[in-house]
Amino acid sequence: MSTIRSATAVAPANIAFIKYWGVQDAARTLPFNGSISLNLDSCLTTTTVTFDPELRDDEVTIALYGRAAEAASGRPRERVVAQLGRLRALAGVATCARVDSANTFPSDAGIASSAAAFAALTLAGATALGLDLDERQLTVLTRRGGSGSACRSIPTGYVEWRIPEGPFDAARWDEESYAVSLAPPEHWALADVVAVVDAGAKKIGSAENHQLAATSAYFPARLAEIPARLAAARDAIARRDLELLGATMEADAVSMHAVCMTSSPPSFYWNAGTLEIIHAVRAWREGGLAAYFTIDAGPNVHVICADGDRDEVARRLGALPGVQFTIANGAGAGARVVG
Ligand code: PMV
Repeated sequence: MSTIRSATAVAPANIAFIKYWGVQDAARTLPFNGSISLNLDSCLTTTTVTFDPELRDDEVTIALYGRAAEAASGRPRERVVAQLGRLRALAGVATCARVDSANTFPSDAGIASSAAAFAALTLAGATALGLDLDERQLTVLTRRGGSGSACRSIPTGYVEWRIPEGPFDAARWDEESYAVSLAPPEHWALADVVAVVDAGAKKIGSAENHQLAATSAYFPARLAEIPARLAAARDAIARRDLELLGATMEADAVSMHAVCMTSSPPSFYWNAGTLEIIHAVRAWREGGLAAYFTIDAGPNVHVICADGDRDEVARRLGALPGVQFTIANGAGAGARVVG
């Protein structure tokens, strides 16, 4: 490559209703189960990738929310460079790249910033290199970057990350485990109000803990429940049935955390503020407010409700003593090229 080639992409974070938890093949990021999520319209990463023949090494800078851009180092840089390597191998080039990434949301708020980051990086890099990939191929390439949930940030709106039929076969699954949109964001006006009870970074990254899931005696029970939950979530989304989606989503989050708490070594992500919100949300429901919780690999709680209830949910969450701040999102589009 003799000329500079550059592209900019925006990608959303997403919240899983049915969680990806546990990896069968860490090198290819192949999960044990399918998962379903919603893209978030206010939690975005913008990334510019510039392949420049003058560069002697890859340069990665990340501007965390509210802070100046800083050069990445260590593991975060290695993961970005590894993904650039996959892109270069597909394009048959060796040119180094500059990556500039910025978030519109606090990256330590329990919102999957790595999903938005790897979706934006992969789309911007593939576009800059002129790779001819359809959406499915783009989700496969994004998944390989290591934050598996990132593949769900490529298609629009409500998204399923599928696993293939039949027995596990790493080479076949690597080609056939991809993400696809179930419905665009305008299909159903849901909101996700994230209640932050601890803004500190989580102590163990999900990458390590995906490898511990299978050490839990409860993991086979979780996996046995998942096909029915995926079917219920698909059906609930198709029919806009918040009660069904909410009950399914809460059961799945509790099941994932039961696996975490019974893995070896165990992880206890919940703190007192997490439990305070779980009890409050259940009480609000008794009182007629249709709101449901889900929790990723951290203590903060995502409360899902109809978009018309988002201000009331945010007000009530903000009044709980354990809640530091909230971030409200509507249903969002998938990753897109913006420059
Ligand atoms: O994609 P990762 O490796 O960051 O793991 C995501 C794990 C959860 O957020 C807890 C669940 C999910 O499906 O998003």
